[in-house]
Amino acid sequence: MDKRQILLSPINFGARTSQNRFFIQPMECNDADAEGNPTDLTYQRYENLFRGEAGVVTLEAITITDKNRGRMNQLFIMPKNQPALTKFVSHLKQINPNTLFLFQLTHSGELSNPAFSKRLSVKLLPGYEGDVFTEEEFDEIMDHFVLAAKIAYDSGADGIDMKFCHGYLGSQILRPYNTRKWKYGGPWENRRQFAFDLYERIQKAVPDKNFLIGSKVSVWEGFPGGMGTAGPDTPVIDLSEVIDLVQGLEERGAQYFVQSAGSPSITISLTQCDKERPYFAYLHQYFAKVLRDNLKKETVVVGSNYSVFGKGKNKLQAVTTEDKSLLTYGAQNIEKGYVDMIALGRQSLADPLLPKKFREGREDEIHFCTACDNCLELLIQQSPIGCCTYNKFYTNVLVQTRKEKGRLVQDHT
Ligand SMILES: Cc1cc2nc3c(=O)[nH]c(=O)nc-3n(C[C@H](O)[C@H](O)[C@H](O)COP(=O)(O)O)c2cc1C
Ligand code: SF4
Repeated sequence: MDKRQILLSPINFGARTSQNRFFIQPMECNDADAEGNPTDLTYQRYENLFRGEAGVVTLEAITITDKNRGRMNQLFIMPKNQPALTKFVSHLKQINPNTLFLFQLTHSGELSNPAFSKRLSVKLLPGYEGDVFTEEEFDEIMDHFVLAAKIAYDSGADGIDMKFCHGYLGSQILRPYNTRKWKYGGPWENRRQFAFDLYERIQKAVPDKNFLIGSKVSVWEGFPGGMGTAGPDTPVIDLSEVIDLVQGLEERGAQYFVQSAGSPSITISLTQCDKERPYFAYLHQYFAKVLRDNLKKETVVVGSNYSVFGKGKNKLQAVTTEDKSLLTYGAQNIEKGYVDMIALGRQSLADPLLPKKFREGREDEIHFCTACDNCLELLIQQSPIGCCTYNKFYTNVLVQTRKEKGRLVQDHT
């Protein structure tokens, strides 16, 4: 296996082409201005990613409404934001016209932060507080999703990721726990109809095959009634609904899926493996393979959770250092046919230039993520986010955040 040949080979991505097999995950970094527009910090982050030459870059979770959101300084995608988004996309495309740019559209639902917005749920999970939306309120949310897709298109984005992962509104509707009696609740045929309607409406609003559409999906959320479970009150894995979902979306025009797992506010180590439990990454390998095995060859499957592999100096056992390094493990997964592309999340904060350095044979210069999860601490504390290990600016943000808000003891550090 020549990992360079595998990772640097282009791939058809819907009607478009990804220049290589590196896919940058959406990473919300909470640095937009009060109107939800990109600031200098946002510009810097994405300029570096576009210089980094990944085949695909995803814009972090951008909220379709300012009323229900998880981050204080989140990016918004509402009509008022279109000029700023258009300028942003055009600027980045000038840096690198070859990188495909997807927007991840989201509504936080029950994960909206009540400190500055309204929590809205389809059916509150045990221990969660907030309001349950009316059907009229939900119809408005659907309209906002469709409008946001149109704004993304008009702003020059190459496509969208309809977020069905990590416990945000998409997952809340789709999971078996949504037993509420309404058009998108109860039997799987009702719950999946939400995603099908959304895709069909978006295709009508943006009838351009070059505009990519796909979803990041939590294949198994890891708690009773979560996505990928056998029923509303069991955590037992049953992927039949998720398989039916991706196949139904593929029929409705989805060109790619990003595999993920977990719901970070509940099952954090599952969503982003921490350095103490790197073996959870192998579950992602399995989930990605299930998607790959059940989709058409031309639908791109992107695998997640590679950051914990780093340079190979991780706590995985019974495997050689080379085989447990990000680049080799990633290339092996592509070669074995489990995934078509590998996604970089925290690793993209640690070194946005990874694909370029790799292409230029400068592997020794790559800053590999240490999975210390200090960036996650910044996210939880509502500070601007970046890599605190390799970027001094964010090391200082971390120091300042701990001074002001105390040190956060994360359950897995
Ligand atoms: C700071 C931070 C922000 C994140 N923001 C998003 C986001 O906007 N959308 C999303 O789907 N996942 C988000 N994630 C999850 C990552 O995209 C990714 O799924 C996870 O970190 C596992 O990949 P990794 O091992 O490469 O980091 C975020 C994770 C972190 C640590
Ligand atoms: S702060 Fe730690 S976990 Fe986050 S990107 Fe940097 S090295 Fe990785």
